[in-house]
Amino acid sequence: MEAPRIAVLGRGVVPAGEPALRGDDLGVLHGDGLFETMHLRGGRPWLPDAHLARLRAGAAAVELPLPPEDALVELLNTVAAGWPAQVEGALRLVCTRGPEGGGLPTVYATLAEVPAASRRARREGVTAVSLSLGVPATARPELDWLPAGIKSTSYAVNAAARRWAARNGVDEVLWVSSDGYVLEGPSANVVWLEGGTLCTVPAGATGILPGTTCAWLLAHAADVGLAADERMATPQRLAAADGVWFTSSVRGLVEVRTLDTTRLARSPHTERLQTLLSHPLPRPPLTAPGR
Ligand SMILES: Cc1ncc(COP(=O)(O)O)c(C=O)c1O
Repeated sequence: MEAPRIAVLGRGVVPAGEPALRGDDLGVLHGDGLFETMHLRGGRPWLPDAHLARLRAGAAAVELPLPPEDALVELLNTVAAGWPAQVEGALRLVCTRGPEGGGLPTVYATLAEVPAASRRARREGVTAVSLSLGVPATARPELDWLPAGIKSTSYAVNAAARRWAARNGVDEVLWVSSDGYVLEGPSANVVWLEGGTLCTVPAGATGILPGTTCAWLLAHAADVGLAADERMATPQRLAAADGVWFTSSVRGLVEVRTLDTTRLARSPHTERLQTLLSHPLPRPPLTAPGR
């Protein structure tokens, strides 16, 4: 088991118990900050350019001054230095507004092993229940004061949805707009297959997070003989699709096995799409001979 690591911009790797930010940091007080979580494979972050571009777009939207790109890249390299290539990692880059009284943003990176539960979900899939987010599908991008589609550290709503899922004995929540359209999960995009077309929800029109994983997957759909499209859909339409998945950087592609009350057949496309994404799969449990 690799020990988790933290590196702080300007300080390098800090001992695990040492504070990385101040108690009056606006990231802590107000959730005022941005972050990115990347998949570390072969000791290197996957799709770093896409993550850094989304961070830059978010920083512009919330007027957060970021350090130059090479300083961010160096921080990622610092925290990942010497990490064993065969160990999958979850690499997080965090930039908060900094101290309440003013000052520079706080920038740090964390690195930890991909949790066993994430790896298990790749193989076994998840159960999901649709849950209203209480807003019409296109309402949020229509508010010109509200930055949409940013990966903010304000995750209170996402955490509440996850607690709701745990209380109700399901693995995942699929947020649905008040006018009945699927949006995203609290930490993943939703992707589904209709005919030969791999679909996801349009981020620009709905204000959901534009996921790096689903963008990459749809851009490479042709490699596995599929078309790609962005569509609005109801949970009922997804339940009738030829496959439904959640996508996110660390877990990769996870098949939805049950959506609300509908048990979904295992999709023959799951393995092909997972192979395309190249997230390592845990080996199935050994079964004793003759069982
Ligand atoms: C709300 C939300 N949607 C979608 C995603 C998936 O984004 P990505 O594929 O870039 O990890 C995440 C990732 O954490 C998320 O938090």
